[in-house]
Amino acid sequence: MILIKPMSNDLHDMIATVACEAALAAGMVAHRGFVNASPETLATEQKAGFFDIVTASDKAAERAACDTIWSRIPASRILGEEGGWQGEGDTTWIIDPIDGTSNFASGLPFFCVSIAAYHKGEPVCGVVYDPVREELFMANQGRLTLNGKKVEPFLRGRTDREVEVLTNAPYEGERPSRAAQEAHADLVNSFRAVRRLGSCALHLAYVAVGRVAVCYESKFSAWDIAAGIQLVEAAGGQVYVQDAAGSRLEPNEDALGSVKRLVVAQAGFDYQSSNLSKQMEDGIL
Ligand code: IPD
Ligand code: CA
Ligand code: CA
Repeated sequence: MILIKPMSNDLHDMIATVACEAALAAGMVAHRGFVNASPETLATEQKAGFFDIVTASDKAAERAACDTIWSRIPASRILGEEGGWQGEGDTTWIIDPIDGTSNFASGLPFFCVSIAAYHKGEPVCGVVYDPVREELFMANQGRLTLNGKKVEPFLRGRTDREVEVLTNAPYEGERPSRAAQEAHADLVNSFRAVRRLGSCALHLAYVAVGRVAVCYESKFSAWDIAAGIQLVEAAGGQVYVQDAAGSRLEPNEDALGSVKRLVVAQAGFDYQSSNLSKQMEDGIL
């Protein structure tokens, strides 16, 4: 059961309400496409290659989110994975209409809608919506909620040995180099378990609400991480992001496009002693 905050005159509340509405609208389209999967709804095209696909449902879900946003807040500029930059205004939205498209197209029920909103450069809210489980993760003005209820995460473990790590490494579409194979072997050797669930935004949401202690991602775009970072920050978790040269960045709106590697962890997880701080330093995976 999804709870949406009632609209108030406060612009931030309004943006947060519209973010939820847009996520639900896109989620409904995605869910319908998933449940009624057919060659038509799955009409798939390749983007960067066979490992990077887009379906008719991705495009329709993004349209549903954009239409919702512009009908409520016309002064909006939107960066959507499928449509690129569109519109003008003080409120910026970063949208991934279906994060986990490969899962979606395979019939694996693990994908989501991810929407982050900023006003005049300041983060306002981040929403990650899983339409299969009807779970709406939201960061709004420093508060983390799941289906409208405040989340009180507990620490899953302090060290690699005690926890699972979620990751997208090694990335699809190319044979990992010898160094990347070694780096992955180190991950496998360090953590209790290594999981590639196939949706970066849900990985981040799961760390935020304390289902998993830590997540490591590389090779992503701003729409994969924008909302999830806000969720982890609202949970008081740790966020480490760096650019292609290995320099640490602040994960604000302007820098998101330059972020190439990311670790998020629950507060209290010992990142400095983790194999992940080495992965970040080495920059191989
Ligand atoms: C992808 C997923 C995947 C991650 C890729 C993303 P998409 O997003 O989040 O888990 O490994 O980096 O591009 O293409 O399904 O929206
Ligand atoms: Ca994505
Ligand atoms: Ca996508």
